[in-house]
Amino acid sequence: MLAAAVVHSLGTRRIGRCGYLFPRLPSTMDAAHRLAQVGVGEGAVVLAEEQTAGRGRLGRRWVSPPGVNLYLSLVLRPPAEAARRVNMACCLAVVDTVRQVGGLAPTIKWPNDVRLGGRKVCGILMEGRWDSGGMGWLVVGIGLNVNGAFTGTPLEGVATSLAQEVGHPLDRGAVLRALLRALDARYEQALAGVPLWQEWKGLLEGLGTRVTVRWGEQVVEGVAQGVTPEGDLLVAQEDGRVVALPAGEVTTHITG
Ligand code: BTN
Repeated sequence: MLAAAVVHSLGTRRIGRCGYLFPRLPSTMDAAHRLAQVGVGEGAVVLAEEQTAGRGRLGRRWVSPPGVNLYLSLVLRPPAEAARRVNMACCLAVVDTVRQVGGLAPTIKWPNDVRLGGRKVCGILMEGRWDSGGMGWLVVGIGLNVNGAFTGTPLEGVATSLAQEVGHPLDRGAVLRALLRALDARYEQALAGVPLWQEWKGLLEGLGTRVTVRWGEQVVEGVAQGVTPEGDLLVAQEDGRVVALPAGEVTTHITG
């Protein structure tokens, strides 16, 4: 079990000042929403050793075997207009953490997959609940592959872990501590209005290449031209129109 001590000796301002650690949950997202609803403080972290119904973006499953990776959700209460910045802040916090492992050069696949050598090492899921008065919360779910092994599994070539990349197992407690500290620092920046866009944009893969983006029922094809300061992907279509997409699933074309 990950040491509860991790969340007691962090020295952070908000993130992880309160932690809920579970051996097994269906999903840390649901537990975090329940806690948010009953008024848990900002920065509370829900962590599970294993998830039996871990979920990813676009209705996908997040496979969450016990004891190898990190599965956590944060309860945040940013002003609604800062929510998009929080996405960039969390992505950058994961990048900071991965870099601390040493010798790794993470990139971001829009909007918020963190990848190593074109394979996903971390997924981020943002779920907001706002009422008409703009009061509410944001749950940020982070699945970081620390010691998982994907070779010989259906995810080979698509997913990787920090251990797979550095060639030896890592101390999950140390990675968790680094992650929570990085999240705290980046979240403070997001709240203070620090422009994170340039840094986030600089890490994005595939700008200038042909892409197909699926967003709900919509399929948009064209060239990924850039991103807006809010984080929308700008896709230039063949007819010259440029579409701004706030979320979606990107397929990058290898040729053409
Ligand atoms: C993605 O599709 O890339 C996002 C994956 C997010 C997975 C994390 S694991 C912790 C939290 N609990 C969940 O059920 N999902 C998120």
